[in-house]
Amino acid sequence: MSFQIDFQPLGRRVDVEPGATILEAAQSAGIGLSAVCGGVGLCGRCLVRLAPAAPVSPPNEDELTLLSPEAVAAGLRLACQVKLLGSVRVEVPPESLTAPQRTQVEGEEEPVDLAPEITAYELILPPAALKDLRSDWERLADGLSARGAPRPQRPRVRILARLAALLRANDWRIRVGLRRDEVVNVAPPETPLLGLAVDLGTTKVAAYLIDLLSGRTLAMGAVMNPQIAYGEDVLSRISFTMENPEGSNLLQKTVVNALSELAAHLCAEAGRKPEAGRTGAYDPGQIAEMVIVGNTAMHHLLLKLPVRQLGLAPYVAAVSSPLDIKASEIGLDLGPGSTIHLLPNIAGFVGGDHVAMLLATGTHRKKGVVISLDIGTNTEISLAAHGRLMSCSTASGPAFEGAHIRDGMRAADGAIERVRIVDGRLEYQTIGGVPPVGICGSGVLEALAQLKLAGIIDGRGAMDKDHPLVRQGNFGLEVVLAAATRTRHGRDVVLSRKDISEIQLAKGAIRAGLTILLKHAGLEPDDVNEFIIAGAFGTYIDVPSAITIGMFPRLPRERFRQVGNAAGIGAKLALLSSPLRAEAAALAARIDYLDLIQEPGFTSIFAESIGI
Ligand code: FES
Repeated sequence: MSFQIDFQPLGRRVDVEPGATILEAAQSAGIGLSAVCGGVGLCGRCLVRLAPAAPVSPPNEDELTLLSPEAVAAGLRLACQVKLLGSVRVEVPPESLTAPQRTQVEGEEEPVDLAPEITAYELILPPAALKDLRSDWERLADGLSARGAPRPQRPRVRILARLAALLRANDWRIRVGLRRDEVVNVAPPETPLLGLAVDLGTTKVAAYLIDLLSGRTLAMGAVMNPQIAYGEDVLSRISFTMENPEGSNLLQKTVVNALSELAAHLCAEAGRKPEAGRTGAYDPGQIAEMVIVGNTAMHHLLLKLPVRQLGLAPYVAAVSSPLDIKASEIGLDLGPGSTIHLLPNIAGFVGGDHVAMLLATGTHRKKGVVISLDIGTNTEISLAAHGRLMSCSTASGPAFEGAHIRDGMRAADGAIERVRIVDGRLEYQTIGGVPPVGICGSGVLEALAQLKLAGIIDGRGAMDKDHPLVRQGNFGLEVVLAAATRTRHGRDVVLSRKDISEIQLAKGAIRAGLTILLKHAGLEPDDVNEFIIAGAFGTYIDVPSAITIGMFPRLPRERFRQVGNAAGIGAKLALLSSPLRAEAAALAARIDYLDLIQEPGFTSIFAESIGI
């Protein structure tokens, strides 16, 4: 007899013998479930969720020690401790996975009623004849009218240029993409009509290729934003445009090339999927509509709008309303009439990506008190409370991306991402399970929490110089996370006092933003019913560690939700549904933006928030 274990949302199933643990089942299914302590019930990293009354062993002592009663009631269990007594469905939260399994483009999504801006019509038109001398365009317009579609206006030259040959090569049969009263795409019958949803981040660009007729995601992927070559963060890119006469042109061209390559790559990938059954049948010329979301600076740089004012108080955007532009206006060569819709910006430092995140998480529709935040170099935070919606942006800096940390690195193979101090010994786990080369943001955050819990650092971040894990380094006190003998480059990977200060500043900025938003709403942290953490970094942080260092308020674990790339999912929703696009515009208009710098008491709240 064996049981079937169904791991979701990974969609992987495996048969196991009775009595095996969920961790063992995950390992035999090739799922990289985090298990820093090696499965002995000490680290709490292997969290999974089970349905009530699932046929498994009851929570044991280790689980009851590590998990709160609320967490157990919510179905959370330690995979290494749960013995299987029957077939079960196991939900694996993204933060329980080791890095190779994760991509930066996935996020939680709900099904949506398909209602894109573009409608496809398959037409069979009467051929031109001596007795019927209507032009090709008139013939097409009449065909659409006869189908009850709005009569198209303003024919585009790029459409007209294709029309004659297309009609004659396909026996006067044609597939037309109509956007309100504008023909945006013409193609042979049954050609797919595609859409592209893009999350244009400062660091990475994530995109989803969508079949607009079925709503299916055909392919998704991400590349680094090549503008990085001209400045790591938003402010340095703004300076680049100010110091170089050709700066704006260059930045726009760079990102447009990346979008064009990403579109081509995703089309090729979609064509390779066996289930698509139409190898080679996708090409970027079929992309009729795009939705792009990004922070205000990325939005402006894409459109080559002035950005100087974004870097100067009072940090005002050139435009905040939603925009529809033609892809050709920015030099992006997609379908002949391809439109790009840009979601609205809220302020100079809160852009359409945050609006998309709110749309995807439904923050604005929820009852009670909800915090939603996306952690990055700038962290955007929104608070929805009893019908009110407020947002702010806080300069959390690049420390969580590994910058300004001595051995810091981005989340890539060899980065220490998990740290535990067990019985006085420091244990770690690296992305990819390979020898360490540095430490990424989530690793630093955990290291800090573990040092605090072990009494190695105090509330100000100062190290106990007499502790056996602390030594005097060349630049002050430090803790060796991985000794040179175990690292790939043969050097120690350390965490210094200065690194700790960097993280304190970053987490202090986030906590100060949270405190001020709650204060404005007359609320206490404990009033928060749901705390939504979006974005790549936010997905993989260990929430208890973030609470330990005081970055997040001390709320029960089950009130936190890590949702992945919600901005990208929001872009997808706006691509698939015009009503949701309108909802995004309406929610952005409702938001009260709070400028933290103008807040009386900001400096003292920030100073208080730095403590651990
Ligand atoms: S692997 Fe389950 S608690 Fe550590």
